[in-house]
Amino acid sequence: MATDFTEETAADAVIESFAPDTSPRLREVLVSLVRHLHAFARDVELTIPEWEAAIDFLTRTGHQCDDDRQEFILLSDVLGLSMLVETISNRKFGVATESTVLGPFHVVRSPARELGDNIDLVGTGTPCVITGRVAAVDGTPLPGALLDVWQANDQGFYDVQQPAVQPRTNGRGLFETNHEGEFWFRTIVPSYYPIPTDGPAGELLNATGRHAFRPAHIHFIVTAPGYRDLTTHMFVAASEYIESDTVFAVKKSLVVDFNEVTDPALAKRWNLPGVPFRHANFDIIMQPTS
Ligand code: BEZ
Ligand code: FE
Repeated sequence: MATDFTEETAADAVIESFAPDTSPRLREVLVSLVRHLHAFARDVELTIPEWEAAIDFLTRTGHQCDDDRQEFILLSDVLGLSMLVETISNRKFGVATESTVLGPFHVVRSPARELGDNIDLVGTGTPCVITGRVAAVDGTPLPGALLDVWQANDQGFYDVQQPAVQPRTNGRGLFETNHEGEFWFRTIVPSYYPIPTDGPAGELLNATGRHAFRPAHIHFIVTAPGYRDLTTHMFVAASEYIESDTVFAVKKSLVVDFNEVTDPALAKRWNLPGVPFRHANFDIIMQPTS
């Protein structure tokens, strides 16, 4: 190992310090990390005050984390890293439905509900019916698939963000597809909303002139035996911020029209009090595990 530290040899010196029996994958990741980190510092000629500011920023990011808040994930989200890792891990497989980020508001598995139930427990907002079918990539319907669904309300808040305002489990439901792989439930059209901005991730957005908003969406985790778990969203096509999601999670294939329905017979069919309401269809195609 060279003892005379120079800008050019610094990364090699760190890499050579790793013991020969370091796990191969850990070595691979750390070698690349050290090389990129050193190249970055040389590239921008990182100053000591900037390095101190970065340490302070990361320290405050850690202090902002607790059981209910994960500021490091939020930072990863706004830097596009969460979406990049998600996309690498779930490369598009033929016609299979694309995945997107989980987000911090899943919290618990949603309460089991019957097909057709309303996940909106409050009664404000634009009523809406979501329908769809879960099938395999070869078109075979998947009866008994589970859909864990959660969404913000019409004001852009999840139940856990407003414990004094929304009943617990508002906007959440766990549904099982019928014998034809179909599902349907009632809800309200969700609103776009800002991610939390009172921590370092928000500072970063501010400092770079970025907004904090996510377009309106409904989250899904879909599971079926023999198929890869799918974490995804359906995005409301006409939503504000659909072109500029602050966590970069929109994929075109996940953007769905929430069409206005004015036929009273359809309101009756879906057990809605009247018209107009919205209807959106989201068919889900699952990828086999092998
Ligand atoms: C969400 O969709 O719930 C979410 C995703 C990333 C950051 C914040 C919220
Ligand atoms: Fe969300």
